[in-house]
Amino acid sequence: MLSRKLAEKDLEEKVEALMAQMTLEEKIGQMSQVRHFDDISPEDIKTKFIGSVIHTQGPLPGKNAEEWQAKFIELQKQALSTRLRIPLLFGVDAVHGQNTYEGATIFPHNIGLGATGNPELVEKAAAITAIESKATGFNWVFSPCVAIPMNEKWGRVYEAFSESTELTAKLAHASVLGHQGSKGNPGVLATAKHFIGDGATDFGVEGGNTTLNQEEILERLLPPYQAAIEAGVASIMASFNTLDGIPMHAHKAMITDLLKVKLDFDGIVVSDWKAYSRFGQNDIINAGIDMVMAVDGDLDAFQEGVRTGVLDGTIPEERINDAVRRILKQKFRFALFENPFPDKSLISKIGIPEHRSVARQAVRESLVLLKNENQALPLKKDSKIVVVGPFADNSGLQSGGWTVNWQGTKENYQGATTILEGIKKFSNHEVKFDPDGQAEVEDVDVAVVVVGEEPYAEFFGDIGGEMNLFQLTLSETHQQYINTYTEKGIKTVVVLISGRPLVTTPQIEQSDAFVAAWLPGSEGDGVAEVLFGLFDFKGKLPHSWPKSVEDFKGKFGPNFWDDSIEPLFPFGYGLNYQKSKST
Ligand code: GLC
Repeated sequence: MLSRKLAEKDLEEKVEALMAQMTLEEKIGQMSQVRHFDDISPEDIKTKFIGSVIHTQGPLPGKNAEEWQAKFIELQKQALSTRLRIPLLFGVDAVHGQNTYEGATIFPHNIGLGATGNPELVEKAAAITAIESKATGFNWVFSPCVAIPMNEKWGRVYEAFSESTELTAKLAHASVLGHQGSKGNPGVLATAKHFIGDGATDFGVEGGNTTLNQEEILERLLPPYQAAIEAGVASIMASFNTLDGIPMHAHKAMITDLLKVKLDFDGIVVSDWKAYSRFGQNDIINAGIDMVMAVDGDLDAFQEGVRTGVLDGTIPEERINDAVRRILKQKFRFALFENPFPDKSLISKIGIPEHRSVARQAVRESLVLLKNENQALPLKKDSKIVVVGPFADNSGLQSGGWTVNWQGTKENYQGATTILEGIKKFSNHEVKFDPDGQAEVEDVDVAVVVVGEEPYAEFFGDIGGEMNLFQLTLSETHQQYINTYTEKGIKTVVVLISGRPLVTTPQIEQSDAFVAAWLPGSEGDGVAEVLFGLFDFKGKLPHSWPKSVEDFKGKFGPNFWDDSIEPLFPFGYGLNYQKSKST
């Protein structure tokens, strides 16, 4: 304990010594986060005293990890050439592996990790994500999302672990420890997001209005943040939603009074995308935002606006000092002053078999068996198998949003294996593939039909929202894939690829076996290992499974809206080979 207190004291002394030298412009610069393209030129890093750079949708920093590191080294050298030589933080949305880098190990999205219920596995996955993020030049990830999704219509259900506050808190704690270096590897700053109420908006609208009362927020939504803070989380990201009409970014009572004072959070409160111009300019600074994602043309307005605010007294200088103190503290804490540059030796660790093996374990343990009758599963090596649907042989479609691109990809990507490839590995026969569900195959014992949702991210995935591209049931085409085989009397195993529970009651009834596979990521062959019984099912539903679209009349999903509505399967449900009916 004494060493930790000394370390804290030493850290605070370093921060105060540096703060004492800083001009107002240098302080505001530290609060500025920009993209490595469009928002700035490399020289701006120096002239505008930038504190952080992010990579997100848009031009890649380079063709390979060496070039990514070289780009960030160039920007870091600009920062280190300023008067006070304060190093940059490099942030990235590595939300299920370093998913912006093609070739990285891609884990199941958090909903799948929620189905594993395995904190040790979550911690290992986070530690690997930290290594592969550092290998590509980053020292800060905007993960984990610790939302409590209360409506399956929300387009970001899969980014969170579960509808269960307790399970989410447990896995949030593990994720932060893994990302920030508990496994002995040098960590990265983790970010608990989005504070608070992102998954609890009325009707599941991304960035909508959350009308939960304070008691419900404290009881249902806050514990994962408390767990993340207990694990030492370095940053917390504010949310797009409003709380009873007040933008969360401008909500001083929640950000300052609750998070910073009552919960004693001493890390960085970072804004979300372009928040300065979207949520009240200097109001967000006075509410407690410390670092601003000043992207898309916001940078000069942000820097000038805050400078004016301090000079005319509408922003207390102490508020700026609090923000900069928090930023510098994390930079000292993660040894950026000693090690500002990426470690080239980590590049060889991107996507290595040991990492993929952990991801494959996560895939296996995430699968939830909802039905298994007529000895459909486990698949037998001597069975004649046909695999159906485009999702079966497409690693992009099995990985969801935030994979290679912001909205994901519909192509196979480097280093990934597909579900079909996995099935072929274990079958003693030639496995037939019916990508369009034409069922022009004869003489098969079992059909494995892979159906689900194409990739989406953020509001693109809202059901009934402004885009309204998705639905609570399977598409007609996917329903037809299943019908075609069941109508032929062929034993049918359905594997559902989705970012959330869907209303699939008819499909579950008509199939012999039904597996919720969520969004497995790059190791699609992990699905086959369980389908063939090499490993038993371990996954349990992280969300209750809805019965009917009629159950979605309320502002939340059935489980949160009306206790009288029975789910088809409750939270925590999941069969295995012992429990499933082998009749
Ligand atoms: C997005 C998301 C947030 C992400 C950020 C940076 O709008 O809401 O989760 O970390 O912008 O890409």
